[in-house]
Amino acid sequence: MQHSIRQFSKHEGESVTIKGWISNKRESKTNIFLVVRDGSGFAQAIVSLDDVGEEQFESAKRLTQESSVELTGKVIKDERQIGGYELHVEKLNIIHISKDYPISNKAHGVKFLADNRHLWLRSRKQWAIMRCRNAIIMAIHDFFQSRGFVQMDSPLLTGSACEGTTDLFETEFFGKPAFLSQSGQLYAEATAMAMGKVYTFGPTFRAEKSDTPRHLAEFWMIEPEMAFYNNEMNMDLIESFTRHVVSQVVEKCQLELNMLGRDIAMLEKVNQTFPRVTHSEAAKILRGEVEVNGKNAITVQEEDLAAAKKAIEEKQAKIEENEATIKGGVKKGKRNYLQNQIDQLKGEIKKLEETCRNIPKWIESAKNFPDGEDFGGSDETVLTRVFDAPVMVYNWPTKIKAFYMKEVEGDPTHVKGVDLLAPEGYGEIVGGSERETDIDILIRKIEEHELPQEEFEWYLDLRRYGSVPHAGFGLGLERMVRWICGLDHMRETIPFPRRYGRILP
Ligand code: 4AD
Ligand code: MG
Repeated sequence: MQHSIRQFSKHEGESVTIKGWISNKRESKTNIFLVVRDGSGFAQAIVSLDDVGEEQFESAKRLTQESSVELTGKVIKDERQIGGYELHVEKLNIIHISKDYPISNKAHGVKFLADNRHLWLRSRKQWAIMRCRNAIIMAIHDFFQSRGFVQMDSPLLTGSACEGTTDLFETEFFGKPAFLSQSGQLYAEATAMAMGKVYTFGPTFRAEKSDTPRHLAEFWMIEPEMAFYNNEMNMDLIESFTRHVVSQVVEKCQLELNMLGRDIAMLEKVNQTFPRVTHSEAAKILRGEVEVNGKNAITVQEEDLAAAKKAIEEKQAKIEENEATIKGGVKKGKRNYLQNQIDQLKGEIKKLEETCRNIPKWIESAKNFPDGEDFGGSDETVLTRVFDAPVMVYNWPTKIKAFYMKEVEGDPTHVKGVDLLAPEGYGEIVGGSERETDIDILIRKIEEHELPQEEFEWYLDLRRYGSVPHAGFGLGLERMVRWICGLDHMRETIPFPRRYGRILP
């Protein structure tokens, strides 16, 4: 019978058989230490000459990184090992010897890793991220299904734009122009009028030429839409939804979040009321005119800058110390260890130097933020640094938001939109709104946005036949993965990212 590493805790002291790949190997005269991965987890496996005999021991020596094997051995508890257990091998069967696997345990450049995404996915960090992504997806379904929402799919090939016409991927539909969907929302509105509470869960496409850490050209969006909801109810739902998903991942993915070095205390901050500020309040906070809990957005950035400079100095000193030790003469193992540490510190310094270059620009942009404009990525970063929890920004300037958002009563210059900004600088992960129900206002807005009204007639029908107040939101799945896993870049949040300049592999 085949077992999985994940199940080791249930088989302590027993002999089990696993099938997997070698992710690392160290040798001594009488022992070979393997790190094996089987998809379900990673574990150390020890092949000892005494246990397996000469022939099997020699065969184990042939194993290379990413060779595939079948191992039978005893499960022994060892707290120091990943997963808490190790395998004392009794029998070994080589399935395939891998030759010259391109990804080593050394640091590689991002382009190289992205080119080798099909193999990079086997690395520990990527494994941990994908497990978290899976847990997030399950938590999302769990949240909505247990609250009576019906999952309804929206089409991916569409005849019209939903979120503005500038970033549409155009394609051809039997000789007629068509677009890849930017959002399933308009269809979710129609299905909500049939089913009450619905959510879509599918890929969406944006042809933004944005080579940033938070933009993908193809990403998965979850769009709940609720009949008889206003924007306050929408915000309540966003809050409990976010709390549920984060708590589930923290509970189910302890090992993975640990491997990612994620500070769980930061994630647990979702267990408090999310602050809600209007867009114009947020603008004042951003410019440093208003403080939040005694924190000034501009001062926080200046402190971040000073801290980054200090960290660079400390890391520089550590590098020099290591270099001096190496120069003084040390054994090969120790030298490799110190050199690895140096390489890692250099990488960290590079990142910090980028932060030091960015912060002055961010401060400039934040101080001069004009009322009524959209936040840029850096503005969101600056803004979220003064809040502990995710923050909801609502009542947005009409002119920067989509045509379907409902105008604030008595103030047509603002609409009932809401963005959820994740803390620690991650920024927007959710965008939503209460929808306009007044057909005349909608027709005017469609015109103002220069959209072809005839293509929206079906959508206007929703306001002709039993129109009701309704609201909804869209969560960018990969934005959520990035925040929960604490990642610098979206390229690691999805198995095969499609982003500006990247369609392979
Ligand atoms: O804010 P957006 O554009 O809102 C909508 O599409 C609405 N129709 C949603 C709704 O009310 N049903 O996009 C929603 C979310 C963003 O908050 C962000 O998390 C994600 O989708 N998103 C992206 N994720 C990755 N790459 C991009 N280029 C993204 N653009 C938006
Ligand atoms: Mg948005």
